[in-house]
Amino acid sequence: MSSGNDQQLPTEAELAEMDRDQLVALGGKLDGVELAEYPDPWPVKGTRAEKRAERTIALWFTLAGVAGLAFLIAMIWWPWQYAPPTESSQHFWYQLYTPMLGITLGVAILAFAVGILLYTKKFIPHEVAVQQRDDNMGAGSDELHRQTFAAHLADAGNRSTVARRSAIKRGAGFGVGMLGLGTAILPLIGFIKNPHKDSGTKDGLYHTGWKQEKPGEKVFLRRYTGNPHEVVLVRPEDLDAGSMETVFPFRESERDDEHALLVAVKRADNPVMLIRLRPQDAEKVVKRKGQEDFNYGDFYAYTKICSHVGCPTSLYEQRTNRILCPCHQSQFDALQYAKPVFGPATRALAQLPITLDPETGYLMAKHDFIEPVGPGFWERKS
Ligand code: FES
Repeated sequence: MSSGNDQQLPTEAELAEMDRDQLVALGGKLDGVELAEYPDPWPVKGTRAEKRAERTIALWFTLAGVAGLAFLIAMIWWPWQYAPPTESSQHFWYQLYTPMLGITLGVAILAFAVGILLYTKKFIPHEVAVQQRDDNMGAGSDELHRQTFAAHLADAGNRSTVARRSAIKRGAGFGVGMLGLGTAILPLIGFIKNPHKDSGTKDGLYHTGWKQEKPGEKVFLRRYTGNPHEVVLVRPEDLDAGSMETVFPFRESERDDEHALLVAVKRADNPVMLIRLRPQDAEKVVKRKGQEDFNYGDFYAYTKICSHVGCPTSLYEQRTNRILCPCHQSQFDALQYAKPVFGPATRALAQLPITLDPETGYLMAKHDFIEPVGPGFWERKS
């Protein structure tokens, strides 16, 4: 051995010939590490206690894998779409969707953590070492230290006996695999469920409940009374000048369908503000190109969903004709096709084209919105 500053160092040839135990001992010596205790957790190999510990840990990892797999299955195939309480069986399973995701993912993570903790407790040697810190005068590690450090790592892996514990390795691999797959698949799940499946219908993302399902279908403006199954439609004379009312879509085909009546008032993009301008204000209206006939007289209908991040813009100030969103204080001018005049919103509120049904005297929609409601993912073409 050659001499170092204060201790003997091996030559390159000597270093190349050293086995791992020698490198570990040398590394400790060089780093000023004194191993006070370095017991083997299982000095007698193959005992029943050792095998039991191994099986227990493998079981936890397997449980993590099974729970991860269950999470994946629940996420993709569990009946997640709303079913009303009247359809008791579907409603029961629908209600379990979110708890099921939480439980399976929670169990997977917990079981994996327990497996790691147990493995550390049962199989990693619990040495007691004392070390003087040496940063090589700030110059970083040299080749000698790198090799001895790598030997230390390899030794730790070797003494942890993970290499020969195939049940634990398989269990851990299964657990990590299922958990990783679940995590990786989360952002893709929307594609797997195909949100564009109903694109041509009122249930698709490009439409709202105001879309006519068949040619000539009348979609009326419905007042919400607090009872989701009560149908009260709106006539022009029901609103005073300068007032506002929230309305929802209604079609005759749904009159006796309790579920459809409930969905109509619950669906996020259905609420519409029906505003009746004062006559003197109506004279000042500036209409948006392509929307010149969207109003009925002094009646204007705008979505209630803010174009900023989708809060309900539920405040209408009669004096200034401003529509206010309470979330981030965006303001929209009801006299100028609800274009934003203050706050973070940059797009006008979508306007619903309305008219009067001459047969019944109720207000109804001419057709669906022609642009996204709220912070939409698509843009209008005009
Ligand atoms: S959601 Fe309306 S201002 Fe932000």
